[in-house]
Amino acid sequence: MSFANKVVIVTGASSGIGAATALMFAKEGADVALIARTQAKLAAVAKNIEALGRKPFVIQADLSKEADAATVIPKTVKHFGKLDVLVNNAGMASEGCLLDGKALQAYDDMMKTNVRAVIQLTSLAAPYLIQTKGNVVNISSVVEIRPSMVPTLMFYAVSKAALGHFTRGAALELAPSGVRVNSVNPGPVENEFITNNKLGNVDELNGSLAGFTALGYLAKDDGIGHVILFLASNKARSITGSTYVIDNGYLLK
Ligand SMILES: NC(=O)c1ccc[n+]([C@@H]2O[C@H](COP(=O)([O-])OP(=O)(O)OC[C@H]3O[C@@H](n4cnc5c(N)ncnc54)[C@H](OP(=O)(O)O)[C@@H]3O)[C@@H](O)[C@H]2O)c1
Repeated sequence: MSFANKVVIVTGASSGIGAATALMFAKEGADVALIARTQAKLAAVAKNIEALGRKPFVIQADLSKEADAATVIPKTVKHFGKLDVLVNNAGMASEGCLLDGKALQAYDDMMKTNVRAVIQLTSLAAPYLIQTKGNVVNISSVVEIRPSMVPTLMFYAVSKAALGHFTRGAALELAPSGVRVNSVNPGPVENEFITNNKLGNVDELNGSLAGFTALGYLAKDDGIGHVILFLASNKARSITGSTYVIDNGYLLK
């Protein structure tokens, strides 16, 4: 699956799924722009890509801030000259539910990063993607399809459900211009998402998450990356508006 001469933006590229995916795109010959807030982690991912003989473009940005997010597409296009693929992977989770008084705060925080920033980036990217007949891959979750088993994460699921409808709406709007938009929906992944989002005190997440899957083991970051690369590639040229679940059978249980 060659991405030679392709320019790919991966948001949330400083860790987990985004870091693994950016490296995989670079291995396939892409010029990659890495977006996240944490400079040190971005530098570590950039170093791994440089070891492949490629030169990534790093943009430190807090995508929950409109002014920061607004810089990502113009800077990337100025640097690499075009845009072929936008991977909207950056995402966060915070706790809040109806009875704990944190519902609106949790909703606002997650909608800003998980949905609003995706809409902003996709909107700014669309004119360039039309030029290259490129595509967008949004990273959602199985909780788009079935609400989280953890009540305090209900607004995480709400944000991913909104992202799902955005994927389908964007796919419909951009199809006549030759631009595809799809979504990858992981179940629990073996990475630092729980730690990074300080969800370690959520009892349901501390047991064996693997036990909630039919296969009895969790997906890894590069396993999600393989599906992202497939959807971004020409092999998926007939796929748009689709929701690709990769959950080790989590939704079966
Ligand atoms: N891990 C799972 O079990 C799982 C399951 C289903 C779906 N997902 C989804 O997969 C995506 C990637 O998460 P992950 O599992 O790889 O966890 P992760 O390691 O915590 O990655 C999240 C990434 O998003 C970035 N990010 C968060 N807020 C940001 C902001 N305001 N501005 C810019 N970047 C921001 C983080 O970088 P900085 O902190 O450096 O900004 C980090 O690079 C997310 O959308 C998540 O919802 C994860």
